[in-house]
Amino acid sequence: MNTSANPAEAHNEALTGFREDVIRGLSASRKRLDPKYFYDATGSELFEHITRLPEYYITRTETRLMEQIAPEIGQACFDTRAVVEFGSGSGRRSEILLGALSTVTNYVPMDVSAELLEATRSVVNLAYPEIRVVPLLADFGQELSLPSEVPSSRLGYFPGSTIGNFNPQGATEFLARARSLLGDKARMLVGADLVKPHHVLDQAYNDSEGVTERFNKNILARINRELDGDFDLDAFAHQAFFDEGMGRIEMHLVSLADQKARINGGPVFEFKAGETIHTESSHKFTLGGFRDMARQAGWHPVQHWTDDQQLFSIHLLSQR
Ligand code: SAH
Ligand code: AVI
Repeated sequence: MNTSANPAEAHNEALTGFREDVIRGLSASRKRLDPKYFYDATGSELFEHITRLPEYYITRTETRLMEQIAPEIGQACFDTRAVVEFGSGSGRRSEILLGALSTVTNYVPMDVSAELLEATRSVVNLAYPEIRVVPLLADFGQELSLPSEVPSSRLGYFPGSTIGNFNPQGATEFLARARSLLGDKARMLVGADLVKPHHVLDQAYNDSEGVTERFNKNILARINRELDGDFDLDAFAHQAFFDEGMGRIEMHLVSLADQKARINGGPVFEFKAGETIHTESSHKFTLGGFRDMARQAGWHPVQHWTDDQQLFSIHLLSQR
């Protein structure tokens, strides 16, 4: 979480953190970058474009399912006073949930993108002027705290299968942290993408318009823009594939040649032809596997829903 209340200082803190993570990730023997760095203004726009692609079934399937089950969620969460959303993005999809919960007085969107949080505030203020929006610029992978004015009887919301971007241990730890963050009488609603035939998954992350490729490469473009790097984007290729053993889509950037790149004042990063930077994992779940993981984190699985084609699942969890 940014610890500074001053926006200029918060920006500098974020930039320093980005620089340190890039140096650490690209100096490792298996090079990696944290997927949270996809989402600057350009990356967030590219993600929104991905959500509209024919191959990327996740967002439209989850949205339709939410629309269908909203009344049931409203009944099950009848006393919810605050919704805390992790990785809220554009906030456009949050409206369905808020519309189903008549007792909510506070909405806390949490994201690493300040621009997205502002956009969310406007969208929700317009649609639900009676709900107080309390945006939180924070990394949900870290220890979190909520402003004291956020009332209890809270519902955590983690849509989009963004939970799949954690490894299984990280996802369990996140769910356990969310439990203590949300407190007594809390519930949690999580969207989890399901395991399915490989070709469907492979196509979803290798779309024919090349938007996912641009999204993946934007992480290098962002390093060039913000850290004064000299990465040649044409010298890297997008790669995404389903790893059966790990149960996840892996996204990489493959170096097309032996090459070097650097950031301003930083070390030189050396790449061999064929070497990759692992930029994202997107774990896919079974219904039972997700419920077991939630139990391990101390939650009680109450109910779950899937679409007719069993592409996607939404899970309601509660504190005992
Ligand atoms: N919930 C939206 C957006 C999903 S995209 C939807 O379902 O469409 C993932 C979102 O999570 C982005 O808005 C990104 O900025 C945010 N995000 C990614 N990693 C994050 C992190 N570690 N902490 C907080 N937000 C994060
Ligand atoms: C946000 N997250 C769940 C998306 C996913 O499917 O893992 C991000 C994404 N990566 C490539 N396409 C979309």
